[in-house]
This record gives sequence, structure tokens and C-alpha cells, in this order.
Amino acid sequence: MAQSGQVIGAGSGSTAFLAVRAIASRVRHGELHDIRLIPTSIESELTITGLGLVQADLAEVAPDWLFDGADEVDPDGNLIKGRGGALFREKLLFSACQLRRVLIDPSKRVDRLGTSFAVPVEVVPRAASVATASLKSLGATEIVIRTGSGKDGPVLTEQGNLLVDCRFETIEDSLEDEINLITGVLDSGLFQNYAPEIIEA
Ligand code: A5P
Repeated sequence: MAQSGQVIGAGSGSTAFLAVRAIASRVRHGELHDIRLIPTSIESELTITGLGLVQADLAEVAPDWLFDGADEVDPDGNLIKGRGGALFREKLLFSACQLRRVLIDPSKRVDRLGTSFAVPVEVVPRAASVATASLKSLGATEIVIRTGSGKDGPVLTEQGNLLVDCRFETIEDSLEDEINLITGVLDSGLFQNYAPEIIEA
């Protein structure tokens, strides 16, 4: 899939990690050269540099294509992402790139989004109570501010925000846009209508 000379967006999470490792192995064996990867989290930056690959910055260069994992994929290719806390930079990359390849195992396929995962929403801390009230009015039935292990209190994203995990009984096509209209919300892990190529392995 990857070709020499390309700039490729690299997602976060365990599946994306395997893909970065596969690219690194091809580079090491001389099958690929002049590859640059745009990371989507500190985790992905560390993987890329740790494997001796070259990073690129989305502010300076456009990706030829991207790969990423997902937590849930519905039959129309809509996604829930963000289990690992990286969703904003992943969404940014999805928006900057036309060819999006989502790598999954069969367990990620669901008939409808929200089957096993809540929708993570990244919220500015000061806006938490106002934003959670708005999320409730959009139909969230259970709202939990994500807490970490190894640190007391909430998980803070790489942008210094909270992650609010929201359960919805029904996820309409417009929900991603509606969530993004809430003041204090940076973005969510709902990826609707991006028409990614789903690659199952
Ligand atoms: C990172 O926060 C996520 O969006 C991941 O891409 C997603 O959770 C999939 O992760 P795995 O590949 O580890 O299942």
C-alpha cells in the first residue's frame, strides 16, 4: 500500500502501531524510501521516531493518504474512535486527507454505532457542566468523565481537555455535527460520512 516518496497520516492505537511497524520493516529492508509519517498523538510520534522513521507536520505538508484503527464501524463506514484518547488530531487528519484507510479486525463491525462503545467527546474543562447538559439534551443517556490509571482525577487530552464518554441509544446521521455545535466541545470520536476504505484483516 505504502509507496516510496509518500507522506502518510499515521493513526493512534494498537492497530495503527502494527501498520507503522510494517512500514518500518519495509524501510529497513530497502523496499521503501523517502517515507514521511504524520502522527496523530504523542503515542504515535514516539512509535514513529522510535522505529527510526521520519515525521512530518500536517501544518507543512498534506498527506497522500492515512491509516488508522477504529473502535466501531457500521455498515456505512461510519466510525466511533477515541478509546485511546486520541481523537482530535485523528479527526484533523481525516479532514485533511481524501484517502482514508481504516484497518480493523472483524470484532469492530457493528450493525449500529454505540453498540459497545460510548462516544468520546473532548471538552474544555471550564465548559464541563454546560457542555454535559447540552450533551444530555442531544440524547446522551449516560455521561462519564473519563478518569485515568496512574493519575488521580480525569484524563487530560494532549490539548489539556477532558474526555466525556457519552452513551446514546440512537446515533443519528447529524449527531457529529450537533455535538460540534456545543460551546466548549473541541470534537468527538464520531466520524460520520467520511467514506473511509475499510480494510479487514
Ligand atoms: C485512539 O484513541 C483511537 O481512536 C484508536 O484509533 C482506536 O481506539 C482503535 O484502537 P485499536 O486499534 O487499539 O483498537
